[in-house]
Amino acid sequence: MRLILMFSLLTSLPALAQLPSRRRAQPPPRMEDAVPGREIYNRNCTICHGIDGAAGDRAPALGAQRRYLRRTEGDLHEAIKNGIGGTLMPSSPLPDSDIRKIIAYIRSLRATAIDVAVAGNQRNGEAIFYGKGACLDCHRIRGRGGLAGPDLSDIGVERKLEDIRVALTTEKPAPSRGYQPVRLTTSDGRTIEGVIKNENNFSLQILGVDQKLHLLLRDEIQELAYEGNALMPSDFDKKLSKEEFQDLLAFLSRQARRRAQ
Ligand code: HEC
Ligand code: HEC
Repeated sequence: MRLILMFSLLTSLPALAQLPSRRRAQPPPRMEDAVPGREIYNRNCTICHGIDGAAGDRAPALGAQRRYLRRTEGDLHEAIKNGIGGTLMPSSPLPDSDIRKIIAYIRSLRATAIDVAVAGNQRNGEAIFYGKGACLDCHRIRGRGGLAGPDLSDIGVERKLEDIRVALTTEKPAPSRGYQPVRLTTSDGRTIEGVIKNENNFSLQILGVDQKLHLLLRDEIQELAYEGNALMPSDFDKKLSKEEFQDLLAFLSRQARRRAQ
């Protein structure tokens, strides 16, 4: 019995030893490879996939905002080198070094804020989020905070770093659906301010600045004014010092309830 165990241990050893060495043969993609990788991709893959990672006539986008079947480096390498059986995706004759560059490029297309190194002090950013920035008035993180803006608990995996920077510094041309600010007076003289969560010909659902949900029938409303601008302030690069702004970005970029693969 013990002998058999010993034997199976021994035979499984070479298999174990192989694993790390196989990994070593495939060093992780480096972000600087993304630049030549883009060129190799655009030259070799765009008969089917779209240019710059977009969807093509015959193959899906490799870098749009969607869930991917193949996310790990190994899976991507396998798909490109050997093709995907039963589909149009062919095996590629490119050398491994070029495939690695393409993978770095695909990764760079997909990277959300959490995937990139962000300078700044997260702790200090957190203090700004809950303090000076007053972000909590309108945003929630992990169940705490206001409701007028989107939940930011997963912002690090949902958005690219640049999108977060833009959200903090640039006014939106129009508020998004679900965040349209409104101010109204009811026929019995009450004033309600908030964002429209839902509306139809007969009624409105408003999330008030009082954090309560108001359901109003159209004929109860005397006056209704849609605000042109989103509630989100767009001057945090001016309200905060350069360091504070960077610290806030560092904090936001790490927000993820579950780390993405
Ligand atoms: C002849 C057309 C064709 C060419 C050329 C081609 N692909 Fe594809 N590729 C496809 C199709 C079709 C799929 C979708 C397969 C499926 O349904 O799973 C695909 C899927 C993929 C996937 C998996 C996507 C995912 O989310 O799972 C990767 C990665 C990929 N291709 C990379 C490449 C790269 C890199 C090249 C160039 C070296 C390339 N492909 C060239 C047709 C092509
Ligand atoms: C007065 C309310 C309010 C305050 C204060 C506020 N926000 Fe917002 N924020 C919003 C609203 C509303 C939106 C959605 C705007 C839209 O899409 O129309 C938003 C959008 C965002 C987005 C984009 C979210 C996404 O999914 O794209 C980020 C990031 C963000 N806010 C971060 C912050 C941070 C950080 C602070 C504090 C420094 C802050 N906000 C302060 C209301 C606010």
